[in-house]
Amino acid sequence: MYEGLLKQYKEYLPITDKTPMISLAEGNTPLIPLHSLSKELGINLYGKYEGLNPTGSFKDRGMVMAVAKAVEEGAKAIVCASTGNTSAAAAAYATRAGVKAYVVIPDGKIAMGKLAQAIIYGADIISIPGNFDEALKAVRDIAKTEAVALVNSVNPYRLEGQKTAAFEVCEQLGQAPDVLAIPVGNAGNISAYWKGFKEWHDKKGTLLPRMHGFEAEGAAAIVKGEVIEQPETIATAIRIGNPASWKLAEAARDESKGHIDSVTDEEILNAYRKVAAQDGVFVEPGSAASLAGVIQHVKNGKIKPGETVVAVFTGNGLKDPDTAINATDVKISKMSDLEEMRMHLRNGVSEL
Ligand code: F0G
Repeated sequence: MYEGLLKQYKEYLPITDKTPMISLAEGNTPLIPLHSLSKELGINLYGKYEGLNPTGSFKDRGMVMAVAKAVEEGAKAIVCASTGNTSAAAAAYATRAGVKAYVVIPDGKIAMGKLAQAIIYGADIISIPGNFDEALKAVRDIAKTEAVALVNSVNPYRLEGQKTAAFEVCEQLGQAPDVLAIPVGNAGNISAYWKGFKEWHDKKGTLLPRMHGFEAEGAAAIVKGEVIEQPETIATAIRIGNPASWKLAEAARDESKGHIDSVTDEEILNAYRKVAAQDGVFVEPGSAASLAGVIQHVKNGKIKPGETVVAVFTGNGLKDPDTAINATDVKISKMSDLEEMRMHLRNGVSEL
């Protein structure tokens, strides 16, 4: 039976005899071949579907490790700032480990599914009038004076857990891809994947991919080379103007001969709708930044025809139902009569 990341990758993680082996069976997510988009783009495209983690995002990988270490070190409470997914994961793993979770979120800028999760898992939720960057600054300060463990990705255990996704990609493909495309927000995940690919390269002899990271245009601090005071994007998950792992992300880009570029909200929404409608995979808007970037890079030649590309789909589409409904022309036909339904289907089918 699969029992989660800490057991699966024990020898690659900072686990001691005293580390509690908590698990919600996170990780082991599918690598889904995207047949329709592959054909359209002329590449071999896969989606690493992190939305199938127990709380619906990749954050579970880092959180299981960070919470286990916090408990090992005697913490009774954890704290994080979040655009939503980190708070959901923190709340779930805190519950699992028997500690308290405090989560600090930007008021009104978190998707409904994520808020629902923090509520139902029983976190202590604090909403601030500022954005994620301000929330992160606040919890960093608070963790210095209060008896709480900080579990944002500035906690190095988070990146340790998250690097396991790169191991899985290599195992699933039998090799590293040519390109790993990934959304960039606080820049922890791109840094963690790169660390994972390098470790697997050293231990298993797999190749190294080029890392192609994508920020939302209204929050593209790394691309622009400056802090964005008021980041804005429809992809609230990556609405971050001062990424904590900025330097590590640049190192991942440069060492791998990759790129960090930006995608507009329009490109994000286009990719978001396309992957659901053409390949049957529902991701959240922030996650669609990776696919938006792949489409852009196929057009401008940064990805070559025939290359193998893995797009990381960091979170489940169900996290943010409002965007799904608002981003499409909703067409629901109201019918009360069986005969009317029959004719509707008959007309529809005859056009196929
Ligand atoms: N995709 C999703 C769905 C996310 O929730 C995040 C980050 C990212 C991508 C970016 O990852 O920060 O490692 O570059 N969400 C954080 C949160 C900030 O609070 O849930 P990153």
